[in-house]
Amino acid sequence: MANSNGYSFSSWTSFIAESQIRALLRYKVKYYFAGGKPGIMPTDIFAKIMQDLSVRYLEDSKLALDDFNYGPTGGQPWFLKTLAKRLCDVRSIPIDCDEGWNNVSITNGSQQAIYALLDTLIDPGDIIITPSPAYLGFLVPAVKLGGRILTVPTDHDGIIPEFVEKAIYLSKSKFGKIPDIVYVVPDSDNPKGTTIPQKRRQALFDICENHNILLIEDSAYAEIQFKETPKPIKALDKDNNRVAYLGTTSKEAAVLRVGYSVLPPNVREQVLKDKGYLDLCTSTFVQRILDEYYSKYIDEAMRKAIPLYKARYEAMAKAMDASFPAGDRTDPTGGFFIWWESDNKDFDSSKFMKEIAIPNELLYVPGGPFYPITGFSMTEDGSDVEPSVPRPNTMRLGFSYAVPEDISIGIERLGNLLSEHI
Ligand SMILES: Cc1ncc(COP(=O)(O)O)c(C=O)c1O
Repeated sequence: MANSNGYSFSSWTSFIAESQIRALLRYKVKYYFAGGKPGIMPTDIFAKIMQDLSVRYLEDSKLALDDFNYGPTGGQPWFLKTLAKRLCDVRSIPIDCDEGWNNVSITNGSQQAIYALLDTLIDPGDIIITPSPAYLGFLVPAVKLGGRILTVPTDHDGIIPEFVEKAIYLSKSKFGKIPDIVYVVPDSDNPKGTTIPQKRRQALFDICENHNILLIEDSAYAEIQFKETPKPIKALDKDNNRVAYLGTTSKEAAVLRVGYSVLPPNVREQVLKDKGYLDLCTSTFVQRILDEYYSKYIDEAMRKAIPLYKARYEAMAKAMDASFPAGDRTDPTGGFFIWWESDNKDFDSSKFMKEIAIPNELLYVPGGPFYPITGFSMTEDGSDVEPSVPRPNTMRLGFSYAVPEDISIGIERLGNLLSEHI
């Protein structure tokens, strides 16, 4: 594709738009319920870590030189050991707590792990199963790389395994191939906020085992949980062969652009090869900061953060129940988001946001971008596939960033405006 100065851009640039969530970050409003920005962050802890590190660097110039230098693509061993300990002790990931650290890798955000996984697994035309709706940061790169998305229905317990099984058979009969990937966010999903119960986790694992499909378990919100959640699907993967487990420091530490993962060894090898060309390595200095946080402070920080996030969720749920018109909202037990679907199928949440919400100082994410721009979904009875179409009568409301008082006022304002207009 040529443009006015004659540059010829690659073809994907013409059909992939800027991330709608990134675009929304530009708006400054009083009541912000849009992107998944953490609003509770232990900035005092990070300030102390940097203060302590400054002293150490002044005393030890060799340490300073190493920490400001290039490092291994998959992460510094000392940081991987710290992460392995937490994954083993707190998350039940089946790696050897002392020796298993070399199963852990880091990336620049878990977003980079998502991209590198897709980049190394997907050829144009390959089939990928996702929930409907799904995290747009997974959907868009998958489409960009030529993957064909097949979305599977969800309910208040997340993706429905029987439909995943049906989708695999449909993929075979309609497209002539077994899917390469099943992608899920089991703990307080983005965008729906739902959590997959243990029975479904086992069923998903068994389905992927039986059909030899890689299951990507994106556990971005695993540490932000208001009550005990089932063990990760990865806990079932004793041989580290079936599940690509992704975590991120962004929600539970700070947005320093570090994600961590436990991948089957041959997948890890390809992902790190890709990462080596994408960014050479992740900043060692940032790993040092996070190493201090994960080895000394994370429990204290989470103890403080979780009740505060819960209070934000409660303020949002209460205000929605009191003021929203007829519709269905999810009831998350953690994470950052509530999903709402209007009973009025003609309601267009994107149009409403531009014309009504933003002028009233309100921002949320319209539901449309959480459906693939091209792809397929299953018919309601699961017997066939049809082109995927977004549900415009939906929205994702984030409770992570605003304080409870603003959530109560802002959501009531939104609810009243919705009631007037729908
Ligand atoms: C489900 C999910 N996965 C991955 C990411 C990417 O996180 P990061 O790249 O900050 O680690 C996000 C960010 O919002 C997310 O919600």
